[in-house]
Amino acid sequence: MHKSDVIIIGAGAAGLMCAIEAAKRGRRVIIFEHNHRVGKKILMSGGGYCNFTNYYVSPDKYYSHNPHFYKSALSRYTQQDFIAFVESYNITYHEKTLGQLFCDEKAKVLVNALVEECQRYQASIMLDTTIVDVEKIESYFQIKTNREVYQCQSLVVATGGLSIPTMGATPFGYRLATQFGLKVYPTHAGLVPLTLHMSDKEKFATLSGMSMDSSVSCLKQSFREAILFTHRGLSGPAILQISSYWRPGQVITINLLPDMDLLEELIVYKANNAQSLLKTVLQQYLPKRLIPLFVDQEIVNQPLQALSDKKLKTIAQSFHCWQIKPNGTEGYRTAEVTLGGVDCDELSSKTMEVKSVQGLYFIGEVVDVVGWLGGYNFQWAWSSGWAAGQVC
Ligand code: FDA
Repeated sequence: MHKSDVIIIGAGAAGLMCAIEAAKRGRRVIIFEHNHRVGKKILMSGGGYCNFTNYYVSPDKYYSHNPHFYKSALSRYTQQDFIAFVESYNITYHEKTLGQLFCDEKAKVLVNALVEECQRYQASIMLDTTIVDVEKIESYFQIKTNREVYQCQSLVVATGGLSIPTMGATPFGYRLATQFGLKVYPTHAGLVPLTLHMSDKEKFATLSGMSMDSSVSCLKQSFREAILFTHRGLSGPAILQISSYWRPGQVITINLLPDMDLLEELIVYKANNAQSLLKTVLQQYLPKRLIPLFVDQEIVNQPLQALSDKKLKTIAQSFHCWQIKPNGTEGYRTAEVTLGGVDCDELSSKTMEVKSVQGLYFIGEVVDVVGWLGGYNFQWAWSSGWAAGQVC
């Protein structure tokens, strides 16, 4: 029987941060990771360069059934704190867009820094370790692994969400929460490409690979970034963002020309160049291949003078207010995050400890907190891991 003060399950972003902070306080820490390497998602994120935080982290960039829960951890360990950590390891980084910070070199430098920090404070990481059983016996947790049996005072669950099962994602954390009687919100894929119904998929197939700056809305949320037509449906940052708000059966609205008023433009053209063909004008603003999918061939070949203002308005609307009902999402196979998870109301927002089970903590993506695309999810992992690390 091995005894430890703290056992952390999952050596991802949240687990590593928690281990460092707890070990700094002199706690004996062991992390169990079932993969053969740590921080696989850090390594693959941001195209291999990890978008590790964002200059503009704020609570409005997150969602959860409890919209207040994440405020405490995010304000106590901020993006500036993580940037200071990155800089302390001389890791250089750059802002790509919208405050998103990426490593200049491959994300391995970041994982190496986190592992070095664990070693510095003697937090041990045990790879290829599977958890067979967890039990609470009086004030201790007993953890049976494929290797040996361990006991600890504090058990931190940092097993992440369900996205990318091939990277080692498991429902372990949700099951453990249920085992301890905690409420777990149903999970579904977020920050994920949307698929289209067969008829739309066939209709837009010719646009596969085309990217357009757009504004995408669903319910009251909207995002201004690129959309990408794919052979399965729609992707690109604006679609990934809206996918976390979209629910089956809902329609999304896409403004393909967010920077202009097409109707106004068409009316000015009609007044000055009445003989210009509609398609000639539209081609100045829109990709040639896209136009016939939105306006009848017969109409695009007409001169502006043949089209009433009412007709021009309908045409403009079809680009400014394209409404499409997705069929679904690509699911966890390609999703960046998992929505839902351990109910925040079960946890202390200050420490991440389960209110009803002393010594048990949930951190990172396994908790019902998800951020926007752009480094917000890693910041939640660092902040929640840090918060638990101060007390576990
Ligand atoms: P994370 O998933 O990182 O770690 C959980 C760990 O637990 C894993 O190592 C896993 O193997 C382990 N584990 C699971 N079950 C276990 C079990 N039963 N026993 C032992 N170990 C177990 N975010 C962002 O802010 N910027 C970005 O650039 C990206 N990019 C990105 C790309 C892709 C492709 C994906 C899939 C995701 C992103 N994200 C992102 C999201 C980000 O990766 C995610 O939110 C964090 O990694 C969550 O950190 P956690 O530590 O909570 O889980």
